[in-house]
Amino acid sequence: MTVLNGRRALITGAASGIGAAIARAYAEAGAALALADLDADGLAAVAGELPAGAAVTRHTVDVSDAAAVRALAGEAIDAHGGIDVLVNCAGILSEVPLVEMEPATWDRLLEVDLRSVFLCCRYVVPHMVAAGGGRVINVSSQLGLKGGEGLTHYSAAKAGVIGFTKALAREVSRHGVLVNAIAPGPIVTPLIDGLSPQWQAAKEAELPLGRFGRPEEVAPTAVLLASDPGGNLYTGQTLGPNCGDVMP
Ligand SMILES: NC(=O)c1ccc[n+]([C@@H]2O[C@H](COP(=O)([O-])OP(=O)(O)OC[C@H]3O[C@@H](n4cnc5c(N)ncnc54)[C@H](O)[C@@H]3O)[C@@H](O)[C@H]2O)c1
Repeated sequence: MTVLNGRRALITGAASGIGAAIARAYAEAGAALALADLDADGLAAVAGELPAGAAVTRHTVDVSDAAAVRALAGEAIDAHGGIDVLVNCAGILSEVPLVEMEPATWDRLLEVDLRSVFLCCRYVVPHMVAAGGGRVINVSSQLGLKGGEGLTHYSAAKAGVIGFTKALAREVSRHGVLVNAIAPGPIVTPLIDGLSPQWQAAKEAELPLGRFGRPEEVAPTAVLLASDPGGNLYTGQTLGPNCGDVMP
């Protein structure tokens, strides 16, 4: 498959889980990659498993840090000659009832899961507009649509990602920059290891598909949204590879 031949993609959260699966799918589809994450060792492992010949750069960065994201955008654009596709996938998750949640826990989750999306778009989208087009893919969650018990901070951040996606799509689509979200259901990655076994068992039982998804079952949606002509008519949308958890 070479549907992304010639495209240059910046993927955050690329060291693990869904971001790593998107990196693999994009490399197989012919894209050049700038992979960003806090986890340098994880990035090296993912990059080492990509098909030989893939053009890959690695960037160790905290995506909630404005100066670091600004530098990341500059480095990625310099290294690859531009960025055509931005995938905002970095994220954290914790399970805390509201009555026990410390403001610092709320703030950190919103910084990593929502502020980072703003920052990466803030420093990459102007280059896409100047270049005449691009694709932004923000990884939200089905919990941003339906909410999750013990997950007020995460649900708020992910709902924020969907609202941000719609607003930015209205702002920049006429410049050729298409902005969409992906809201996966529960996917087997290290992220959900922190959720209680009770939460996981209850969740699995209520899913129409009766099982959690795998990262490689989410990545093709990110390929579609980045592709031409497959992704050409999507903007401001939230696609839901979610095992039937939410049916908007
Ligand atoms: N796994 C699920 O069930 C699920 C469901 C819906 C949405 N999501 C979303 O998918 C995205 C990827 O999650 P995943 O399940 O692959 O998790 P994961 O833990 O496997 O991967 C997340 C990656 O983000 C990186 N990261 C965390 N904080 C960072 C920071 N400040 N700066 C840079 N990188 C940082 C981590 O190092 C990690 O490599 C997240 O946004 C998550 O909220 C996951």
